[in-house]
Amino acid sequence: MTNDQAKENRLNQLNQEIENLKSSSPQTSYVQAGILEQLAELKRSNVILERAIHFYREIVLGGQAIDDELFKKSADKCTKLMKFRGWNQEAVKIMRALIDRFPDEDAYRQQLGVTYLQMGQNDLAKHVFNEQISLNDQDLFSKAHLGFILKSEGVQEGNTEVLQKAADLMAPSILDEEKSKDMQNLFYFHLGDAYRRLGQSEQADEIFKLGTERRVFPSFWQRSLYNEPNLKAQPIWPLQETGILRQLQNIKANFKVIKEEALALQRQKSGGFIKETEGLKDTGYWGQFDLFVQGRKKAYGCSIAPVTCSLMENIPEIKTNRRGQVKFSIMKPGTHVHAHSGPTNCRLRAHLGIKIPPRQNETSTAIRVADQYLHWEEGEIFVFDDSFDHEVWNLDGERIVLIFDLWHPGLSAEKRASLPAI
Ligand code: LMR
Ligand code: MN
Repeated sequence: MTNDQAKENRLNQLNQEIENLKSSSPQTSYVQAGILEQLAELKRSNVILERAIHFYREIVLGGQAIDDELFKKSADKCTKLMKFRGWNQEAVKIMRALIDRFPDEDAYRQQLGVTYLQMGQNDLAKHVFNEQISLNDQDLFSKAHLGFILKSEGVQEGNTEVLQKAADLMAPSILDEEKSKDMQNLFYFHLGDAYRRLGQSEQADEIFKLGTERRVFPSFWQRSLYNEPNLKAQPIWPLQETGILRQLQNIKANFKVIKEEALALQRQKSGGFIKETEGLKDTGYWGQFDLFVQGRKKAYGCSIAPVTCSLMENIPEIKTNRRGQVKFSIMKPGTHVHAHSGPTNCRLRAHLGIKIPPRQNETSTAIRVADQYLHWEEGEIFVFDDSFDHEVWNLDGERIVLIFDLWHPGLSAEKRASLPAI
């Protein structure tokens, strides 16, 4: 008999003994839930896990008189397991019960706010954090989270007052060495970004430097949040280092037909380019048209640009890239895209120039990646790592490029297959 089997038998036996005890007190329910929890893990059984949850929930919401410690312990376990099962709504009820019973404890309102954020319920999260701050205005964790929510509102609305408020709320927790340990890397990212959008580039750089010192970012220029370790990092990639040089040459050889598909798309009255909505654009117009998203072929896009799609489909490094996209990108003259960095170091981004206006000077139509400038040429490809800080200007005329992301060549096939999509 293996250790696991012996343990399972013992747990089953204990569980049976407890079930045989007629009047089960909350204390025994707690023990039984713990046994079921261990059994669930050993057997990888959600059914058993749900029974454990049931016991914990009964202790918290069942209305029996119990002491504070048992209440807290049960509620903590219950919310953890519920969130693990994806039962966020249920977890919220338990957290509300904790807040009702312990109104003076910061942690429970903080947890509830974070849960609402994870559920995408930003308004409810905002409400909870506001309430928490009104009870304890020294709570930097809640202030940072409220700031985080306001930052995304400020970006969407292009509202500098809201952005300033967001930065003021986020900064103290990041600047405080101790408190900053509770903060995830995205707070550094968004605080720096808020400063930049406010035109406060010195403050932004200070946050990016701090994040680099504290190993929140891979480097000052490379600020992606989802990173694999030990991958070669350079802003611009010579084509021969990408691992798909021959395939890139084949794409270039098919430039004429790719261009025809892009121009036909551009002529379409409807069902064509879609305006960028991530709040990255500063001025002008930036539209995109998806062919592949997270390694999935877009049926409509590929019906409009079949040759381009089939070229991409024949390149596994692009086709299977669940951390990237393939898309046509159009910019009208007068467009500026805010400096930003992509989410992950696992991909490289290629641009094929399709329709490129002649430029007045080095920065009038260009992309800056870290501290270097790249320029598009019709029929030419360049490859950069978009986890590095980059910024785009297009002042000279309409510009169309094909963007396609490939897996970083340093990632093994197993790693590529195991990484979650972004
Ligand atoms: C970006 O990826 O941020 C830009 O390079 C996109 C574009 O169309 O130039
Ligand atoms: Mn970008």
